[in-house]
Amino acid sequence: MSDSNIQIFDTTLRDGEQVPGCKLNTEQKVIIAKALDNLGVDIIEAGFPVSSPGDFKSVQEISKSVTNATVCGLTRSVKNDIKVAAEALEYAKKPRIHTGIGTSDSHIKHKFKSNREDIIQRAYDAVKYAKSFVYDVEFYAEDAGRTDNEYLARVCETAIKAGATVLNIPDTTGYCLPSEYGAKIKYLKENVKGIESAILSCHCHNDLGLATANSIEGVINGARQIECTINGIGERAGNTALEEVVMILKQHPYLNLNTNIETSQLYGISQLVSDSMGVYTQPNKAIVGANAFAHSSGIHQDGVIKHRETYEIIDPKDVGVTESAIVLTARSGRAALAYRAKHIGYELTKLQLDVIYSNFLKFADRKKEIDNNDIHEIIETSHIYKEIISA
Ligand code: KIV
Ligand code: ZN
Repeated sequence: MSDSNIQIFDTTLRDGEQVPGCKLNTEQKVIIAKALDNLGVDIIEAGFPVSSPGDFKSVQEISKSVTNATVCGLTRSVKNDIKVAAEALEYAKKPRIHTGIGTSDSHIKHKFKSNREDIIQRAYDAVKYAKSFVYDVEFYAEDAGRTDNEYLARVCETAIKAGATVLNIPDTTGYCLPSEYGAKIKYLKENVKGIESAILSCHCHNDLGLATANSIEGVINGARQIECTINGIGERAGNTALEEVVMILKQHPYLNLNTNIETSQLYGISQLVSDSMGVYTQPNKAIVGANAFAHSSGIHQDGVIKHRETYEIIDPKDVGVTESAIVLTARSGRAALAYRAKHIGYELTKLQLDVIYSNFLKFADRKKEIDNNDIHEIIETSHIYKEIISA
């Protein structure tokens, strides 16, 4: 792995699937895991094996089916969780155990009714125990976003001493500002002894709509793994969206950070996840939403028709969308109408376009969106129809 490579850790099947109403069966999970493997993700978090027999079976079946990616199972810092995860991962070509514990004062006091030293010991024991099953052990410091940096650095050092290969720094509650999260990663890079033998990972939640920005700040400041989900689904307001971070890194090559993702599969896998989970993707969702490449105002349509890049920074084909859409509404101009009319077989002169456009506006004021049938109707019912088709 070169220093410019960002590992993509997909947790759609674990953090994403935790969302109420998003439950998938094993068969559906295997289909999605295979699609993620083809997409080029480096690590697939397949589930939380101790949580239910169904999740155990899914992690086991995914381990058998995935050929390239590392398959990962989540645990708490609890011996039995770790043992069960190791069993579920038995058939994985590249298994990883993801274990960890809450490190913020709030978690230590209220969740564990414990103290900082005890948490450090538990972290050490969990990683050490996981290492007795697999080489690749990722440690998460839950609520790292609200954990003070000095203590967090001590926890990370301990996990490295116990053999952790990856240190996950989750902003579990989506609290951090991008500058704070970036500074946290930089602090760990500069202050944790032995950090050169581990990879720092960003795991950001979207409670303030900052998950993507925080992950990008994380990798700019030295993290080399991003944990994310397709369509950004996940607990509460969701996780970092895979398609967003991947396209940000691709569209900003001067950052010199790249991923192994085959971006032309992004739209397809977004549809697969949304159909399987029965969760509708918001139309204005970046990269994969229905309107991400749709232009509806007259000024924008005119610009895009003249030169696509006037209003688009991504070629839709790069993410698997066939083409940009020119949506006809009462806000559309003559250029868009002429463009669509030509597309369905009518080459209008400037004078003909003036007539048809005024009929179009009356029609569009009554109907939200004008489709090809409507354009046929507008042209066929106009008094210049014969003139148009005889040309
Ligand atoms: O958000 C979080 O802290 C998590 C951990 C369990 C990794 O999902
Ligand atoms: Zn999470």
